Amino acid sequence: MMQRLLVVLCLFDVQEVAGWNSFILNDQGRRVLTRRGRGISKATTIEEDISIEKANKIFEWHRQWYPMAVTEFLDEKRPLPMQLMGKSLVAWKSEQQGWKIFDDACPHRLAPLSEGRVENDGTLLCAYHAWRFNADGTCVSMPQAKDLENFATCSVPSYPVREIDGLLWVFGDNSDEGRMMAALSEPKKRDEIDDPNAKRLHWNIRDLPYGYDFFLENVMDPAHVTVSHHNIVGNRYIKDQYYDMKMIQSPTLEGFAFKTIPRNPNPNAPYSTTEFRAPSLVKITTTYPKNDAQQILYLYITPSSKPGFSRHIGSQVLVKGKDNKLPAGLAFFALPMPIWLNHILASTFLHQDQAFLHHQEVILANKGYHPRYRENNIDPSHAEEQKYSSLVFTPNPQDKMVLTFRNWLRNVGQGGVPWVNHQYTPPQRIMDSRQLYDVYSAHTKNCKICLTALKNIKRVRFFSTIAAAITLATIKDTFRALFGAAAFGLIALLSHKLISLFYIYEFSHADND
Ligand code: FES
Ligand SMILES: [Fe+2]
Repeated sequence: MMQRLLVVLCLFDVQEVAGWNSFILNDQGRRVLTRRGRGISKATTIEEDISIEKANKIFEWHRQWYPMAVTEFLDEKRPLPMQLMGKSLVAWKSEQQGWKIFDDACPHRLAPLSEGRVENDGTLLCAYHAWRFNADGTCVSMPQAKDLENFATCSVPSYPVREIDGLLWVFGDNSDEGRMMAALSEPKKRDEIDDPNAKRLHWNIRDLPYGYDFFLENVMDPAHVTVSHHNIVGNRYIKDQYYDMKMIQSPTLEGFAFKTIPRNPNPNAPYSTTEFRAPSLVKITTTYPKNDAQQILYLYITPSSKPGFSRHIGSQVLVKGKDNKLPAGLAFFALPMPIWLNHILASTFLHQDQAFLHHQEVILANKGYHPRYRENNIDPSHAEEQKYSSLVFTPNPQDKMVLTFRNWLRNVGQGGVPWVNHQYTPPQRIMDSRQLYDVYSAHTKNCKICLTALKNIKRVRFFSTIAAAITLATIKDTFRALFGAAAFGLIALLSHKLISLFYIYEFSHADND
């Protein structure tokens, strides 16, 4: 066991993680191929591709818990389509047995059950020919049947689910063995779930037009925060943005962790650690040594419909220090505000990264990078070109965690997410910015809190517009009429602005001075 673990650890070629060294032998004594590129020596091991078979330890993507939704935001009255690694699923709530997740295909003629109905008798009804399924997935009504004999063999495959910490989790393997593993394992929930000193802020959820791995790269890369999130949590023009990253937990099947080390370490300055807990969680903890208070970001990501798309769920947790005081949260997102406002304002932050992360995947694919290339019959003699570290230029230590993640993905994660039928097709580039920055499809339509708020704000806009017109038409005193109409007009205008945030929020760095 220990030996296997050591082999897995050896897969993480120190030279490649560092990215800027060149040696003939690495420190495990393995053969290393050194090549020149863009004026910098790069070191990569030629044995790396077979090491994983030797290690006999691979990450089983389907035998994991994935967060699929925030239950508080779901419409319990209807079946809801969801995707996991390209597989179409349907979630629905049985009054007696809670949330269930099935394959989104009726066994009759494969109509999507997500187009069906949740009926009052606690069944899921396929709206095509009215077959009904109970919470276990067994067919309990078949109106066209002559007798009941077909029922026994008719059912929809269901998946292990859990509702924990406000999230709906699904286990990706519904075989007998998978169910056993699901029963023996726990979703990677927030650590402070029962901590009385912790304030857990609202969940947020977004469907993103970029892949699982690009989301994870992004949140393992603190260097981009000051620059990309200019004016929200930083200033891109700060001259010295140097810091180092130190690995504090070596990579295993479970993940790894890093700590940021500033140029001039100061024991009283806040410090951050970033943990990757495979497959879906990155936990970023900032600790304030003055009172040991902590600001924690829980950032989950689930590979959803196809390459280039993913679902993000996140929240902040603030933990009181020894003096019983909470730390400040990230930017204005920790201020008290209605959930819907928190949700729509998230675009101001998320969209600052959106274009980078969406286009990076296509650019990388065009340069020859191909996840899971072994299964896709890519010529193994091009294996070197498939390596992330061969295609990027990463001379600074702030990229260590990203490179470690790419190594983890390649060597432990078998190259990346195993999409349905093992088909990887690079995503198409979205050039229409209204589509790239679409908030309605990415969030609003799936969030009952936002849909309700949107309806109410539309009412406010409607009635304040009418009130402005009535004020102008009925009040004789010109000054009062204008003043009243302007006040109602302002409310209508603000409502209109808010409404637009539920639909679209375009962003350009060129306009963010
Ligand atoms: S396809 Fe579902 S009942 Fe016919
Ligand atoms: Fe919402």
